[in-house]
Amino acid sequence: MHPVFQSSRRDFTFGPWKLSAARTHIMKSAQAERLADELHMPSLPEMMFGDNVLRIQHDHGFGIEFNATDALKCVNNCQGMIKVACAEEWQESRSETEHSKEVVKPYDWTYTTDYKGTLLGDTATLKVVPTTEHINTEKLKAREQIMFFEEVLLFEDELHDHGVSSLSVKVLCLPAFFVLLRFFLRVDGVLIRMNDTRLHHEADKTYLLREYTSRESKISSLKNVPPSLLTEPNEISQYLPIKETICEKLEFPEKLEPKPETSLETICAK
Ligand SMILES: *[C@@H]1O[C@H](CO)[C@@H](O)[C@H](O)[C@H]1NC(C)=O
Ligand SMILES: *[C@@H]1O[C@H](CO)[C@@H](O)[C@H](O)[C@H]1NC(C)=O
Repeated sequence: MHPVFQSSRRDFTFGPWKLSAARTHIMKSAQAERLADELHMPSLPEMMFGDNVLRIQHDHGFGIEFNATDALKCVNNCQGMIKVACAEEWQESRSETEHSKEVVKPYDWTYTTDYKGTLLGDTATLKVVPTTEHINTEKLKAREQIMFFEEVLLFEDELHDHGVSSLSVKVLCLPAFFVLLRFFLRVDGVLIRMNDTRLHHEADKTYLLREYTSRESKISSLKNVPPSLLTEPNEISQYLPIKETICEKLEFPEKLEPKPETSLETICAK
């Protein structure tokens, strides 16, 4: 049986921003089957937190949120080639062929996703533009100033006891906010892959920085690393070579939607 999860929801206001983190139980199987059909996937991760969400919303309506359903929507479409190559490698490492059907489909049983969050807002959303500016992680060291911290697990699957695939998101609010969305994949005996998306916003700026890094290593190249670290994403990351980094600015919309509260006040004042 799956462990019982305590539902919780925490909100935090940071200037015009509202950060909210909701955590609840895993999806019921009937609901999961329906969603799997909708997404054309033979199955969802064993632990699918369909109602968990981290939402970061400006009071003008724009912002970004992280939720498992949207993350899984990116699984099949994005990276077919890499997935299949990895699947073949995994298959070679095993004598049984119970998964061969799934691999041929080709269905990404590792749930690798290039999800970087869902942009919020009806007409005015954040505008994504490339940049060379990197996130300054020095500021993260001011631990004594932490005002809010939350971590939300979006999904996790143990790959039929052959490793782990998980997607989680953390938010940390100092006088600025940082988000880390981490996809962690370990296929035992084959590889470790870690695709991180970081967000950073400082109160005096009209943009957020988004930095995506992808790290990957074959397990055979990690011979000098203590095996216990292979299950610790935070520890292992420093041993994984960076394959790709993409930096983007998420600029505030030029035309802001009217604030819902403001219009309400105006009506009341009349
Ligand atoms: C996740 O996003 C989808 C569409 O973008 C939305 O329909 C769904 O309600 C969201 N789930 C949560 C828990 O916010
Ligand atoms: C995740 O990491 C892999 C390996 O480093 C990389 O090739 C791939 O582009 C990344 N995947 C996605 C879906 O962004």
